[in-house]
Amino acid sequence: MSFVEYSDCIQDGDVAIVYLGHNSVMPVKVQQGAQTQTRYGVIRHSSDLIGQPYGSKVTCSKGGWVYVLHPTPELWTVALPHRTQILYTTDIATITMMLELKPGSVVCESGTGSGSLSHAILRTIAPTGHLHTVEFHQQRAEKVQEEFTEHRVDHLVTVRNQDVCKDGFGVTGVADAVFLDIPSPWEAVGHAKAAMKRQGGRLCSFSPCIEQVQRTCQALVDQGFQEINTLEVLLRIHDVRTVSLPLPDFGPDSRSDGVEETSPNHAAVSLKTTTPPREMPGHTGYLTFATKPRT
Ligand SMILES: C[S@@+](CC[C@H](N)C(=O)[O-])C[C@H]1O[C@@H](n2cnc3c(N)ncnc32)[C@H](O)[C@@H]1O
Repeated sequence: MSFVEYSDCIQDGDVAIVYLGHNSVMPVKVQQGAQTQTRYGVIRHSSDLIGQPYGSKVTCSKGGWVYVLHPTPELWTVALPHRTQILYTTDIATITMMLELKPGSVVCESGTGSGSLSHAILRTIAPTGHLHTVEFHQQRAEKVQEEFTEHRVDHLVTVRNQDVCKDGFGVTGVADAVFLDIPSPWEAVGHAKAAMKRQGGRLCSFSPCIEQVQRTCQALVDQGFQEINTLEVLLRIHDVRTVSLPLPDFGPDSRSDGVEETSPNHAAVSLKTTTPPREMPGHTGYLTFATKPRT
């Protein structure tokens, strides 16, 4: 198993994603002899996991069952231990596309935070690209480095424990794309420009507040960035359900024999439909994109 390469069977040392139900998943480090408690009972790694194909339905000790899934960045995003606020797949998908990431891309990122976005970047740029990620909080930097090693993607990423606004990304003239998720991105725009290739490239900054966006856009203009665009992406998940709709009652039928139909019409139709959510996840942040032109 690796987060950038699929394998068929669960092996000792893998990180598997246990699917417990809709909106409920947990990561499990697979270890010979280990056990994991779930609400359906115990999973015994040696007999229930190791050697089984990914996607297997595993019966737990209390008779309930779970599915054991191969990890992906999308599953990791909903299963990972939060050390910070994280980016979710709707924003991540837009960022990946708008930064034009592909296999071989060199990307700079700050802050690394909980590594939610980093895993998606790594999957996209593998097997030949590289991610330079900067996190000034020492424990967070150490923890995410540990996870990259466990997930067997550490050859694709360099974690630097420094302040991106003071010390930059630690590389110059190499990046195809830069991503910022820090409280004062405008202070890092100059460093972002320096990290990018002479041929130019793409930048994205994520900020929850419009005042942050305004300052970032001004810094981007001052640094000669072009095609500056800010957008927000909102997700609406529809539920599929069967509904029963009563047929309208148009009153008594006029029958040809002159006898009026008086019994009420209780007929109804049953149909499958989708319903939009009553509550929606609200604002996450504004995404500001820009292009550094060739110099
Ligand atoms: C919201 S989190 C990033 C979450 C990340 N995008 C994810 O998807 O998991 C912001 C991170 O930036 C770090 N940070 C804030 N300012 C920084 C700076 N000037 N230099 C480096 N890291 C910084 C914080 O310590 C925090 O871990």
